[in-house]
Amino acid sequence: GGGGGAEDTGGAEGTGAAGGGGETITVASDIAYRPFEFDQGGEPVGFDIDLMNEIGERAGFTPEFQNVTFDGIIPGLGSNLYDAAISAMTITPEREEQIDFSDPYFNADQSLMVPADSGITSIEDGLENSVVGVQIGTTGASQAEQFQQEGQIGEVRTFDTIEDAFTALESGQVDAVINDLPVSQDRVNQSDGALEIVQTIPTGEQYGIAFPQDSELVEPVNEALQEIKDDGTYAEIYREWIGR
Ligand code: ARG
Repeated sequence: GGGGGAEDTGGAEGTGAAGGGGETITVASDIAYRPFEFDQGGEPVGFDIDLMNEIGERAGFTPEFQNVTFDGIIPGLGSNLYDAAISAMTITPEREEQIDFSDPYFNADQSLMVPADSGITSIEDGLENSVVGVQIGTTGASQAEQFQQEGQIGEVRTFDTIEDAFTALESGQVDAVINDLPVSQDRVNQSDGALEIVQTIPTGEQYGIAFPQDSELVEPVNEALQEIKDDGTYAEIYREWIGR
């Protein structure tokens, strides 16, 4: 095997004669998190998708992506429903008690996004009586709940997907959204000036690929990831989906 083209056949499990195919593994992802994972004409695309396919080529497996709610990923890994998950998931000590992570592959902070001209300038100023939208089960949700407990946010409203939170912001059902900066930035870029990010919340998060505990995939995935960082492939994927 090895040396296959950019296109994988994704053929029957266990063949692996051609390309970097090898065995097929099930990879969970909440495929509504542009530019990391999103749907384009029925196909999953994005930074995480390219990265995982590239890792598979080198580690000898073909990822089969399964679209799930973000909230269900950790329980699903825990009961071995999936072999892995890539979903812009932040490595946290709490999550590490339940699942294993690869080495970090992306750095991200949180952000406060509001409609342009909302008058809201920061968490500290103007949100005491406001409703803030978040995606359920995310680090952004925990962050917002913490601000609420400190009295800085009026109400935190959770949504199943970040898309739902964005839509609620655009229709005025919520006043702001707290979410990973690169994803909210992507939304701002597409909003034609309707939305803006007024604050970066420097949480210093790092994304990791997730696995059921003690998975044998962690080591080969880390080796492939290192190769991809070293040989310039990572920079290519970054340029394609994130920009300079
Ligand atoms: N990085 C954040 C977290 O780990 C948000 C990830 C959400 N990912 C997604 N595909 N919806 O909680």
